[in-house]
Amino acid sequence: MENKTVYSALKPTGNLQLGNYIGALKNMVKMQDDYNCIYMIADLHSLTVENVPQDLRRRIYDFAAMFLALGLDPEKSILTIQSFVPEHAELAWVLNCYTQFGEAKRMTQFKDKSKKNPENVNVGLFSYPTLMAADILLYNSDLVPIGKDQKQHLELARTIAERFNNKYSPTFTVPDGIFPKQGAKIMNLLSPETKMGKTDDNENGVIFILDEPDAIMRKFKRAITDSGNEIVVRADKPGISNLLTIYSTMTNTSIAKAEEHFQGYSYANFKTEVGEAVVEALRPVREKYTDLINNKDYLTQVMREGAEKAERIAMRTLSKVYRKIGLVSK
Ligand code: TYM
Repeated sequence: MENKTVYSALKPTGNLQLGNYIGALKNMVKMQDDYNCIYMIADLHSLTVENVPQDLRRRIYDFAAMFLALGLDPEKSILTIQSFVPEHAELAWVLNCYTQFGEAKRMTQFKDKSKKNPENVNVGLFSYPTLMAADILLYNSDLVPIGKDQKQHLELARTIAERFNNKYSPTFTVPDGIFPKQGAKIMNLLSPETKMGKTDDNENGVIFILDEPDAIMRKFKRAITDSGNEIVVRADKPGISNLLTIYSTMTNTSIAKAEEHFQGYSYANFKTEVGEAVVEALRPVREKYTDLINNKDYLTQVMREGAEKAERIAMRTLSKVYRKIGLVSK
C-alpha cells in the first residue's frame, strides 16, 4: 500500500449516471486497494441549485447506498457525508479569502450554469470551487480521481494551495487529478456533442445507474450514430466513439479489441450489444442497492463512523491553517 491520500466526492443533485461511474467512481473503487482513500457525498455543493428538502434527503441516502453497491468499502476507505465534517465549510471560508474574484469568474462551469439558470446565480455557485478546494486540501490529498469536467476546478485548488504555501510555509499538498484513459467525458446518447449529466434536459440520452434493463435497452437502441457504417473511435464519429468507449470501459476490453469485435456489425446490432453489456454490468449493482436502501440505520452508521475518522484529520489541518494566518486558539 502506497502512503498516498486519495480524495473524491460526488454531489447528490439528480441521480447517478453512467458518466459518473466511468469518469470517477470506477477509478475510486480501484484505488481503494492501493491508497488511503476518502470519499464523500458532497451535499453542501448540492445547495448551489434549488432543492426540495425531502428529495435532497432521499438522494443523500440513495448516494450512500449507491457508493456501497458500486464497491466503495468502509473497511478500506473513509466514506462519509461532507456536512458531517464542519471543517469543510470552515476552510472554504478561509480559502475564499485567498481566491481572486477573477479566478472564480473564469470557471467554465460557473459560466455555463449561470447561463442555464439565470434566475438563481447565487454566491454559493460562484464560490463552489473554493469549497471543492477545501474538500481536497483538508486531507493533504495527493490524488483526485475525477472526470474531465472537474479539471479546471482541480487546477484552481492547486493554484490556491501553492499560493498559500508560498505566502506562509508548506501547508497543503498540491494535488494531481487522475483521469480515466478512456471515458473521462461520456457524452449524452442523443446529443454526443454534449456531456452526459445527472440533470440533463435530455433524459432519454442519459443512462442512470438504477435504470431498469428495459429503459437501458430502449435508450441505447435510440442512441444517435453517425453516417457511414464503420464502428471505430474517430473524431468525426462522436456517437459511435462514445458507444465504443462505454462498451470498452464497462466490459474492461481495450478499444482496439472492441473495434475488432464489432467489425461487420450493423449499427442496430452494435447498439443492442452495447446495451446488453451495460445491463449486465449494472445488474448486480441494482440488486445490492435494493438491499442497502432499506437499511437506513446501517447507512447512517457507516457515514457517521467515516465522519469521525475524517474529522480527526480535518481538525489538524484547519487548526494549522488558523495558526498560520494569525487567528488565536481558544
Ligand atoms: P459531480 O457530482 O458533477 O460528478 C461526479 C464525478 O463524475 C464525473 N463526471 C463525468 N465523467 C465522465 N463523463 C461524464 N459525462 C461525467 N459527468 C460527471 C465528474 O467529473 C466527477 O468526477 N464538484 C464535484 C464534486 C466534488 C468533488 C470534490 C470532486 C465536490 N468536492 C472534491 C473531487 C474532489 C461535482 O459536482 O461532481
